Parts: sequence; structure tokens; C-alpha cells
Amino acid sequence: MSYRITNLRDYANEYHKSVTSPEKFWSEIAEQFDWKKKWDQVLNWDFETPQVNWFENAELNLTENIFERLLPTHKNKTAIIWEPNDPEADSIKLTYGELFKAICKFANAMKSQGVKKGDRVIIYMPMVPEAAIAMLACARIGAVHSVVFAGFSASALADRINDCEAKMVLTSDGNFRGNKNIPVKAVVDEALNHSDFVENVIVLKRTGEKVKMTPGRDLWWEEVLEGQSEQHEAEVMNAEDLLFILYTSGSTGKPKGVVHTTAGYMVFTYYSFLNVFQYDADDVYWCSADIGWITGHSYIVYGPLLAGATTLMFEGVPTYPHAGRFWEIVEKYKVNQFYTAPTAIRALQVYGTEPVEKFDLSSLKVIGSVGEPINEEAWHWYHEHVGKGNCPLVDTWWQTETGGIMISPLAGITPNKPAHASLPLPGVQPVIVDAEGNELTGNNVEGNLCIKYPWPSMIRTTYGDHQRCKDTYFSSYKGMYFTGDGVKRDHDGYLRILGRVDDVINVSGHRMGTAEVENAIDEHPDVVESAVVGYPHEIKGQGIYAFAICDASDKSDQILEDEIKQLVRKIIGPIAKPEHVQIVSGLPKTRSGKIMRRILRKVASRDLSNLGDISTLLNSEVVEDIIKGANLD
Ligand code: PRX
Repeated sequence: MSYRITNLRDYANEYHKSVTSPEKFWSEIAEQFDWKKKWDQVLNWDFETPQVNWFENAELNLTENIFERLLPTHKNKTAIIWEPNDPEADSIKLTYGELFKAICKFANAMKSQGVKKGDRVIIYMPMVPEAAIAMLACARIGAVHSVVFAGFSASALADRINDCEAKMVLTSDGNFRGNKNIPVKAVVDEALNHSDFVENVIVLKRTGEKVKMTPGRDLWWEEVLEGQSEQHEAEVMNAEDLLFILYTSGSTGKPKGVVHTTAGYMVFTYYSFLNVFQYDADDVYWCSADIGWITGHSYIVYGPLLAGATTLMFEGVPTYPHAGRFWEIVEKYKVNQFYTAPTAIRALQVYGTEPVEKFDLSSLKVIGSVGEPINEEAWHWYHEHVGKGNCPLVDTWWQTETGGIMISPLAGITPNKPAHASLPLPGVQPVIVDAEGNELTGNNVEGNLCIKYPWPSMIRTTYGDHQRCKDTYFSSYKGMYFTGDGVKRDHDGYLRILGRVDDVINVSGHRMGTAEVENAIDEHPDVVESAVVGYPHEIKGQGIYAFAICDASDKSDQILEDEIKQLVRKIIGPIAKPEHVQIVSGLPKTRSGKIMRRILRKVASRDLSNLGDISTLLNSEVVEDIIKGANLD
């Protein structure tokens, strides 16, 4: 039986079923997977605690549901196509059969180094097939992977290693990204100066860069693979055993480790992949995200492979060696579904339509967007020039915490409306609430987006700190999961995501907590206090604007600004580097001492028309100084 929805009526029926009998709905989908032991109860939940168990007490291994389940029909089908950074270099195609052997070998290799079920393994790697192999090998042996985007700094990496007490780090010598060669092993070495947990580092040779290998700790990838068997008996996992941890930024403190578990994540990523992208058996699907983000987990690796798809992985960047690289790849592999981020579209829009028109994109059937609200201009450009006006565009709203796509058109089924994520997937029950938590029903309403019923791939906890999970997601509105996003339901009942309503900035589709950037800035010895806000940025969606008080410094503002930018880059990574730093004499504060970010946001957005009432400020005189000194060019 296929669980692919084929028309709008079908969608309405399935949606209805999923809301009226969620347990029946999800258990029917789950039935087609291989279980070593079936569940006692489909769902056991309480959003107060919060506690959510799907497929309670069932036993399985997720990788058996990719390989053992599919090999009889998919052994010779291409599972992964890999396109290297350098277009002249050889690409790689791995069939399901070959991928399975590679995973078993690496699973055996990790085990031989002492990695056991439940151990945490950090993956800090470039976009190469070995990264996906490493994730799946972890799932095979029951180790919990935590992929860290290879653009993060040593200190950000060390924080994550320490938080999850990782036993092993998988990395490469270097990382090709466009015309850059990033020395990632050196970053790992530096991170490990601040960490005691890691016993082994396994290093893949990618760039051939000379690296320092610490005897007894560091091993070459090929070395650990030597003599390993291509067979591996999968570890038996409980449905709620941890599959992975993925760190993400929130509005307070350090990044938190979002925990996803095995069975629910498997069922939901499979189902959402199939339905949103309307994948057909011989299609070539490409998601251009990095595996360091949730999109890469759910829709490069797990969802597509569980659905028996051919998934393309690209090592490079959209503009190297030319601004048509994405489109060249679409032509080369006759890509049928292409999934990217609005920031990439906006960056490519700058080059005009010539690089798009040079290539044959007629294979494309579906185009997709993820990571931030897609503005109408980018939507139309993408739809018209890439999709040639006849590919459905799926604007998929979801989060690291949701594990899979929650609100999105189903390609070719849900009528497209520019910049609208549109309708919830079956099984997803979004509600719009006002500040008091009252549900706003009907159309033409705007408020905060919550989800009122569990879905299988939802966050289970924040690693090592369950209270934080409760406080962040389940305490704002009683009995609901709060997303942190604002949303509008229009006159047709379509949902349009309005962006974050908390102190989270979305830079090029990457989430940054303002507090996290402020903490990094405050490390500067001359900084007394800082405040960070987002402002509209033409390409990145939002840019980071930082205000800092450096009263006693004898350095010039220019020097301080540069030092602060470099410091943030060093502490978090290049993606967090502020676009603007403004040295100020004070920050606008309420009488209770809270920074009035609303005013700073207005200044950063160059929108000085209506600053609102500033008379209630403790120090209203600083506002004029801030406006005078603002970087408004
Ligand atoms: O604000 C929403 C925005 O990205 C946030 C989630 O970020 P992250 O956990 O990094 O996951 C990104 C990839 C799933 C959301 O809270 N966001 C994501 N997709 C969309 C979006 N905003 C508007 N429209 C979208 N399609």
C-alpha cells in the first residue's frame, strides 16, 4: 500500500483521519516497516512533563528499514550521487547495495574502537558520502550522532563535544568549499584542548593537507576500515532510543541539544518526504543543505533513503566555479526535485537569469524552499526562472525541533500561493494563539504558532537538561508546543509564516540566538555590555547588528568594531559575524533594567519613523546618541 497522497480530496481525507484517529493513522503507516517487536501502545503523551512516546516498547533498527527492507528491490539502484566541489573531479554513485556494505564496514570499525550503543559520536565533516555513511553507521550500532556544521569554530565545537560528552569525533583533514580549503582537523585539535571526553578521532583524507595526528588518539579513516567485515548485525533499538542530537540556537544561553529518537523520526521523515516532494521511483532528488543542519539529516539522508530514493549530495557552494553551478548540476544528473534555501536563491538572483538559462532544467518537476520566510520576489524568481513557471514550489515550514516538514504544500496537489507555507501535513495540528494563549480560530487571524498534538518526529528533550526543553517549548502556552514563530492564516485558510517572535535571528537560514552572539562579544576585554538585534538583509534575510558599550577603552571605534567582529567569528564561526558593530555610550533600558530591543531593531533597520514611546526609559538620552552614531549607509 502506498502512503502517497495523490490529490486534494485525498489530502483532506487523510488529514481528517490523522486528526480524528491519529494513532490509527500513524500505526497504519508504521506497519509497512520492519519491526523486531511491535509496539504496545502507539502514543503515550503528556505535554506538561513533557513526555512523548511513539510506538511504545517497539524494537527495531532504522538502518534495517533502509537496507534489509529495501535491498531485495533496490540493491542496484543508486542511493547516493555525490558531486564534488571541483566540477572536474570524479563524482561518485553508490547503490543501495554498495552503501550498505560501506555502512556495515564503518559500523564494525567504530565498534572495534570501542564505540557502543548509547555513546555519542560527533561528526564534523565536509559534504562527502562518508558523512552520511558515518551517520547511518552510528544508527546501525546504536551510537548517538551529533553532526556539527563544519563551519563552526573550535570553541563552538568544544561546547558541543563537552555538552554531550562525546567519545569519538569523525572529521577530515580539510574541507573544500569553493576556492577555499578549510583546515578542519586543526579546528578539532584546538577544540580537543578544551575537552577530556574524546578517546578517538577518525580522520578522512579529503584535501591531502598535512595534519598533526596525535598518537593513540587519532586514526586515519582507511586505517580503521582495514580488514573490517562488510556484514554487520544491527543493534536492537527501542523505539524511543536516541537516534541523534542536533545543537541549535535559542533565545537564551548556549545552544541546546535537540534530541530525536528512533521510530517516530523514521516514520515521519519517510512519510513527509514522499508526500511533500511527490517522489517517483526513478526520480533524482537533490537537497542542497549541509548535513550539519536538520534539513540535511531529514531530507538528504534519512527521509529519502527510507523511501528508497536517489539522493544527491553536493560538496561545494552555489557560486563556484560560476554562478550557474546549481543549474549545471541539475542538468548533469537530470534532477527532478530540487530543495534549497531562500538565501541561496537571493544570492543567485543577483547574477541575473543568464546563468540559469545556460542549462537545461527541463528535468525539474518540483522545487522547494526551507529555512526562512521566502519573500515574494525570490519566490517568483525561483518559480519563473528555475521552475519555468510549471514546477510546483513547496515552501516547507519546519524546525530542528520538529524533525520533519510540518506545514507545506504537497507538490502539485496543494495550489501554490507565493510565500505561503500553506497547509499542515496530515498528523500536524497547528494552532494560532494570541499573547494570552487563546486559540484564534477562523481565517484572517495573526498570532503565535503552536502545535497542539504530538507528531512522531517531535523533539523529545534537550540533551542533559529536560527542564530547559519544558521551559522553552511547553511552558509559554499550556498544553501546547510553542514554535517561536509568528503566523497568519489568510482569507483562504492558508498559513503564512511571519518569522520569529523571540530573540532568534535567522541569518541565511541559520538560527542564531542574540544572547549567544552577545556572550561572544562580551568576551572582549573592553566590552562592558552589548546588545544584538537582527535587521532585514537583502540576501541573508536577516543580518546581525551589534551595539556595544566600551566606556574605558582607549582604542578607536573602528579598531573595536573590527576586533569584535573577529572575536565573534572566532568564538562561534563566520556565520555569526555581525554585519555592523556600533560602539555606543549606553543601551536603552526600561526601568526594570531590560534592554529595549525594539528601539535597537528600529535603528538597525533604518526605520526611525516611529520609535514609539521612549519616555518610560531609564536613560532616554542615549537613544539620540545611538541614532546619531548609527551605521545607516
Ligand atoms: O523561523 C522559522 C524558520 O526557521 C526556523 C527553524 O530553524 P531551524 O531549526 O534552523 O530549521 C531550519 C530548517 C528546517 C523556524 O522557526 N523557517 C524554517 N522554514 C521556514 C521558516 N520560516 C518561514 N518559512 C519557512 N518555510
